[in-house]
Amino acid sequence: MRLLVTANEGTSQLVADECSALDLRVGKVRWDGVELTGGFANVAKLLVWLRVGERVLVHLHTFDCRDARDLYEGTREAKWLEWVDSSATVGVVATGKLPGDRKSPHALRTHVFAAQKVKDALVDELRGAFGHRPDIELRDPDVQVIVRFFGNRCSLFLDASGAPLHRRGYRFTGVEAPVSETLAAAILADTGFARGDRLVDPMCGSGTIAIEAAMIHAGLAPGAERAFGIERWPVRRREVRKALDRVRKDARARRRALKRPKDRPILASDIDPQAVAATRQNARTAGVEGLMRIVEADARELKAPAARTHITTNVPWGERIGEELEALYGDMGKRVASFDGCRLAVLSGHEGFVDAFGLRPDRTTELRNGRLDVRLHHYDIGANDRDANDRDANDRDANDRDANDRDANDRDANDRDESAEQTASS
Ligand SMILES: C[S@@+](CC[C@H](N)C(=O)[O-])C[C@H]1O[C@@H](n2cnc3c(N)ncnc32)[C@H](O)[C@@H]1O
Repeated sequence: MRLLVTANEGTSQLVADECSALDLRVGKVRWDGVELTGGFANVAKLLVWLRVGERVLVHLHTFDCRDARDLYEGTREAKWLEWVDSSATVGVVATGKLPGDRKSPHALRTHVFAAQKVKDALVDELRGAFGHRPDIELRDPDVQVIVRFFGNRCSLFLDASGAPLHRRGYRFTGVEAPVSETLAAAILADTGFARGDRLVDPMCGSGTIAIEAAMIHAGLAPGAERAFGIERWPVRRREVRKALDRVRKDARARRRALKRPKDRPILASDIDPQAVAATRQNARTAGVEGLMRIVEADARELKAPAARTHITTNVPWGERIGEELEALYGDMGKRVASFDGCRLAVLSGHEGFVDAFGLRPDRTTELRNGRLDVRLHHYDIGANDRDANDRDANDRDANDRDANDRDANDRDANDRDESAEQTASS
């Protein structure tokens, strides 16, 4: 099977990296995701283990498409009967820039119209094969067909994920402006947060970043307990079930083996008691409450965590007047400036964040939170001082080495002189 793992804007390389870490051979890395090949075992692994990837699509067909006639004919060419029969409910959604001349009588003017054309061709195909048509279901179909347009090319996919992978199923209680679970995982991947690492999110909101961190810390699969679209496809059910059962069994065994650590590696705090309650509830549902300390606290009074701890957070924005917000950023910047050895990453959608925060980021990653442009600023606190110290230490070492070399040379010279004298006198 040819697969496409879709990625939120700016995260394709992170998705490629996580696919490689799952021992899957990555093909082309595209702006909208990552191409791979594989059987049901790979699909199951992706569905259960992907943290950053948004959907797993099975590729059916790609063809030239300039108008509605091309779309109908191209859709009829796909090998539908390998995947669908008329017992399943079917839905079609179309995305991407619509091709061709909009003035033509066969123009594809809207995505809804394009989706209808694909649905017509699919219904005709199945009616021809089985004698009756499948039911069309827009909201929650058994088989979700995805039509993607790229220039004058069109690709048809089946969505193996069903609900997008960011719907892990643990976040029932929310706060204003949460990040999605896949964006939280992308943020963590971009900071290099890895198994066994420690994290503080001092503005945790509904706890998404901290909960994703807890799962990574303990090596827990984000999709072990949820259902996937591919399980409702009417054909090849046994193969699919077998592949998913195997991956889920392994993932669940890891969760059962999880030991509650004495000192909890993930700290989530927020000034708003409702956010703290939401984080606690969500962490419990995700099964990681035992790895987390969840408290009500003001980020401006955050205490320095142990060295090498990640401080990763998503600061508030937009909900207050600019000055108040910038004062908060400034206070936080001053607070964390002395946390030597910490790796800080702050996600912000506020233009003036960097100036108000008062620290110069080592690097910045552009991301999207839904429809919003956001930036993830990375700071290696104390790194400049550490670099300077390291340089001083290196200089000192080099001086010591020079001094030792000089001593050794002097000793050699003395030895040579002595032996020369001995030779001369003997
Ligand atoms: C953008 S939200 C974080 C959303 C979170 N990433 C999530 O996925 O739900 C920002 C949070 O900062 C919190 N906050 C604002 N001022 C704070 C302060 N001084 N100390 C701690 N938390 C604060 C707000 O209560 C809010 O929950």
